[in-house]
Amino acid sequence: MLRFFGVLASSPLYYFIAEKCNLSYTPNNCNQTNPHKIRIFHLIFETPHLAFRELTPDDDQHFFNLNNDPEVIRYTGDKPFVTLTDARNFLVQYDEYRKYAIGRWAVILKSTGEFAGWCGLKFQPDLSETGEVDLGYRFFRKFWGKGMAGEAAEACIQYGFKTLGLKRIIGRVMEGNIASVKVLEKCGLHFVKEMKFEEHPGLWYEIQNPNWHETSYSPINCNFYDELEAAATLKRKCVIVYKNAIGVSIKTEGIFKTFAAKNREEFAELEDGTIFRLDKLVSLDGKVMPGIS
Ligand SMILES: CC(C)(COP(=O)(O)OP(=O)(O)OC[C@H]1O[C@@H](n2cnc3c(N)ncnc32)[C@H](O)[C@@H]1OP(=O)(O)O)[C@@H](O)C(=O)NCCC(=O)NCCS
Repeated sequence: MLRFFGVLASSPLYYFIAEKCNLSYTPNNCNQTNPHKIRIFHLIFETPHLAFRELTPDDDQHFFNLNNDPEVIRYTGDKPFVTLTDARNFLVQYDEYRKYAIGRWAVILKSTGEFAGWCGLKFQPDLSETGEVDLGYRFFRKFWGKGMAGEAAEACIQYGFKTLGLKRIIGRVMEGNIASVKVLEKCGLHFVKEMKFEEHPGLWYEIQNPNWHETSYSPINCNFYDELEAAATLKRKCVIVYKNAIGVSIKTEGIFKTFAAKNREEFAELEDGTIFRLDKLVSLDGKVMPGIS
């Protein structure tokens, strides 16, 4: 029986996937009265065969099983979870979606509703001066060799470029992981350099967004200057979302220290040393900047 369906809610921006709970336990958010035990999730994007949603703590059994297969983690540098609780704790603490508006996503096979693995983007702030967005994937062995990783990885790249407007995406693999290299190359990433990957020889691949262009500075809405000045004067701790140099949305809490102009561009500096161009501000305390790009 087909376990996947989409339901259009009142807003076209929101629709949901229902996913079969094919686990022996009943996850918390399962509808107990539903004989099919379906879970309803916010669909992020989809491909002909796959649906992508956020990971939740109720994916603990999937995560535990996935990392317990030595073949799956052979080239990843990861260790198996010792207990199911360890897997759950990892997922409970996983807050990349909130911090950076990207993350590794659960990949659901639409024809059966099965959790096939995960695929997605991860912001790695320490990999370069601007940070890098890294593509990663991991699937249960029974799904290998069917083109699933290629379909999933390509969809994540397109989502990263077209929806999120990222400048580039990188992929890092351990030497010898031929399947993974093939996936990266099939998706248009090219080899850049050798590097260390989890203490092993590794390869760095990357792809540039063909539609990326550096935007020239455009002054922000004048009402927002008042808001910023007030926040700085009162030394108020604010929740700030801004786009960094490669297009990643960074959510941070901070106090504005100073504003400065350089080459007719305006910058904000936070007390922790974070600096961003003012027109890259997305929202301040949840208030979205008018006309943000
Ligand atoms: C890497 C991984 C995602 C690939 O998944 P997949 O579903 O088999 O990938 P695809 O079917 O889309 O394509 C893989 C390609 O590699 C090839 N391939 C797979 N294993 C191979 C091997 N051992 N040697 C040579 N080629 C291999 C496939 O034939 C296919 O080639 P093709 O496109 O020319 O037909 C999967 O093996 C996996 O989950 N591995 C464990 C986690 C992992 O290593 N992640 C990457 C960390 S960087």
